[in-house]
Amino acid sequence: MAVFDPWDPAFLADPYPAYAELRAQGRVIRYEPTDQWLVPHHADVSVLLRDRRLGRTYQHRFTHEEFGRTPPPPEHEPFHTLNDHGMLDLEPPDHTRIRRLVSKAFTPRTVERLKPYVDGLAGDLVSALVEAGGGDLLTDVAEPLPVAVIAEMLGIPESDRAPLRPWSADICGMYELNPSEETAAKAVRASVEFSEYLRELIAQRRKEPGDDLISGLIAAHDEGDRLTEQEMISTAVLLLNAGHEATVNATVNGWWALFRNPDQLAALRADHSLVPSAIEELMRYDTPLQLFERWVLDEIEIDGTVIPRGAEVAMLFGSANHDPAVFTDPGRLDLTRQDNPHISFSAGIHYCIGAPLARIELAASMRALLEKAPTLRLAAEPQRKPNFVIRGLEGLSVEVG
Ligand code: HEM
Repeated sequence: MAVFDPWDPAFLADPYPAYAELRAQGRVIRYEPTDQWLVPHHADVSVLLRDRRLGRTYQHRFTHEEFGRTPPPPEHEPFHTLNDHGMLDLEPPDHTRIRRLVSKAFTPRTVERLKPYVDGLAGDLVSALVEAGGGDLLTDVAEPLPVAVIAEMLGIPESDRAPLRPWSADICGMYELNPSEETAAKAVRASVEFSEYLRELIAQRRKEPGDDLISGLIAAHDEGDRLTEQEMISTAVLLLNAGHEATVNATVNGWWALFRNPDQLAALRADHSLVPSAIEELMRYDTPLQLFERWVLDEIEIDGTVIPRGAEVAMLFGSANHDPAVFTDPGRLDLTRQDNPHISFSAGIHYCIGAPLARIELAASMRALLEKAPTLRLAAEPQRKPNFVIRGLEGLSVEVG
């Protein structure tokens, strides 16, 4: 019997059968190992993401003690200071203020202007892969593309980019369920180093502004309201991390799914106009971010179960994306799927600000691979990363030619 166990490699290999069982168990399921309420149905996830009685944080309304939670240990402070001042972990009014400033850089129109640069970069990366006769799709294409794009937008010089990926990976370890002390120690170290780096960069940009996003944040007046330095640092780190982690995984999870579904890959190769619907379907089919949490700020009730203030709800995006109440034959990869309200970019006030950019990046690498590497094939079975929330592969070994 498929069991929901986010630490079990068998579950991680294919969590979707276990989700089907969870959905059959009910609309809300108590899960003791993480002290959370699991929500597996699409309709509930969709409604709860928009429900203001829930929040990504409670600290705008309650102290840890008032909320019945223990404060994090003081040695984790550098991670929390960094994390808690980014918009993803803020609620209104701070969330609204920061999101309004940042969103100017991410409107579909602004992002559309980046398209030639993103297409060019994707083309160069894929050409190098083809010349080499293959390689690791993750390190050769999936990763360098979004890292370069977001670093370029923020104005991080090329010579400074090497540590961005390890810093991000170490910080993102904290977003898994029940992170270990070792994970926390790594995240704290990365938070200190990353913040220090950005503090210096901000000081430089203050002296010599450029046309990059960091200079924009420094200059931004939003009805007289500036970002504090900590908010700027946290915003930059959030954009750098969120700006590539999921895109990398969506790319490799997507190609791994295509290799396992050769009829769909053949259809895509025969008709490149399927790229936009293929991207949406691949993000639904193997959801790059599997779970998002919300604190219950004011009591809610789901299907007769009362969930009190202070509880935590875990919304299962991968399950919602495979809910047969919304998706016909959800276990089937169908690149022509038209009605595809997947929840991979979330909903409500925290809806992914980078969604238009992510779509451009995913389309750029997919188009380049279809056009320049029409014989792309798997060279070795990939290994899954041992993570649950951020779902990805260790690598994706491919051959061309
Ligand atoms: C396939 C790629 C991506 C996926 C699947 C994804 C997914 C998500 C999800 C699910 C959330 C909301 C989490 C929640 O509701 O708790 C989110 C928020 C966010 N994403 Fe993305 N994302 C992707 C790419 C990007 C990119 C490219 C950027 C920026 C360049 C970005 C920046 C952000 C930011 C700043 C937030 C916080 C928004 C807020 O709190 O208001 N993401 N993303």
